[in-house]
Amino acid sequence: MKVFDIAVIGAGAAGMMCAAVAGQSGRRVVLVDHASRLAEKIRISGGGRCNFTNLHAGPANYLSANPHFCRSALARYTPRDFLALLKRYRVSWHEKHKGQLFCDQSSDAVIDVLKNECEAGQVSWRRPLEVSQVRRREGAGFILDTPSGPIEARALVIATGGLSIPKIGATDFAFRVARQFGHKLVDTRPALVPLTFAASDWAPFAALAGVSMEVQMATGKGRNGAEFIEDLLFTHRGLSGPGVLQISSYWQPGEPVQVNLLPERDAVQALLEAKTSVRRNLANLLAEWLPGRVADTWLATHGVPAQARVADLPDKTLRHIGAALSCWSLTPNGTEGYRKAEVTRGGVDTRELSSTTMMSARVPGLYFIGEAVDVTGWLGGYNFQWAWASGVAAGEAAAEYTRSLSSTN
Ligand code: FDA
Repeated sequence: MKVFDIAVIGAGAAGMMCAAVAGQSGRRVVLVDHASRLAEKIRISGGGRCNFTNLHAGPANYLSANPHFCRSALARYTPRDFLALLKRYRVSWHEKHKGQLFCDQSSDAVIDVLKNECEAGQVSWRRPLEVSQVRRREGAGFILDTPSGPIEARALVIATGGLSIPKIGATDFAFRVARQFGHKLVDTRPALVPLTFAASDWAPFAALAGVSMEVQMATGKGRNGAEFIEDLLFTHRGLSGPGVLQISSYWQPGEPVQVNLLPERDAVQALLEAKTSVRRNLANLLAEWLPGRVADTWLATHGVPAQARVADLPDKTLRHIGAALSCWSLTPNGTEGYRKAEVTRGGVDTRELSSTTMMSARVPGLYFIGEAVDVTGWLGGYNFQWAWASGVAAGEAAAEYTRSLSSTN
């Protein structure tokens, strides 16, 4: 039976990049995936235009129990490297917001680049194909049991991603393999996900569904906290939008999130100044600063007399309202879960992986890359940059590792 140098399981962002790099360095690579459609997450990403990287990607944009782990791979394969790859295929892009780069055409352009890179490396495809079991091979290497017979390889890269969006093929395969080989997992949970509230708490705000506005959002404290100025979107069940998705990755169940509805101004100061210069009532004044319906609902739910003239309200009341507008504290009852989460937080514990090669410290020749490992990026192209960078690191390292095995055998 043909023995491959490297088997990669998972033909998504990280797996295709890894297979292409290893194949192009002359190794015999097989790429296995159970899904009938190739790289579905790339296809649906960025609203169909794939926010494929972020110009500012660096370790500070990632959450992990081991925050320095991602540093080496990200430094060795940067957003500029991915841009150079796209340029070779004449794929054009544009910057949307805060360094986020999107394809001008569609996400398919990125999938085609990766497919072509795999072809250039003569990667053998096996898909759709289920892997029922992974075993270690006598001596060195691995055997993958599949319905069309075993696949043997000297090195194995697990690139099956996280748990988000099971409908398009996400599974816990990586975590099962990690456990099988004695690896620890960092607790997983949905991230970059809308937040939900108890129906009774949310009833007054449900009618705001569809309204969006820029806010400052914060949650947690110190190293475990975060703050973002981004858009918030009201939904029937809670909050979504980029600011909320960012905060959701840091949010701990039972904890509140703080929303500053007026991030552009000192709300207390602005209300006190308005008292001397404005003859309007509170609702009309706030409607100049916020979407009118949000102002009305917020005032009603805070027991503030919306029709009161600003000039008639005592300074103490205005200070109180200003402070509440800049720190609206809300406690979600949960999230929309993996069904809607863009990524999975947690995963294979990186403290048992090499940060330069992604190889297991427990099992020589076994690698974990991409979203399966405990490295979770912010919203905005950071997760793909991690997939590319960890894929390249493992592709180069697995090629080197299997070359060294060949020279000693
Ligand atoms: P990925 O999920 O891409 O690939 C895993 C592969 O493994 C899949 O092909 C799957 O079929 C396969 N697989 C799973 N289980 C298997 C098994 N048991 N056997 C065989 N194969 C198996 N990020 C970003 O940077 N910019 C963006 O614009 C977006 N947008 C976005 C939108 C939406 C709706 C989602 C859900 C996610 C995003 N993301 C994103 C996140 C990004 O898609 C994600 O982080 C990367 O795709 C992760 O790449 P991986 O290769 O690790 O997993």
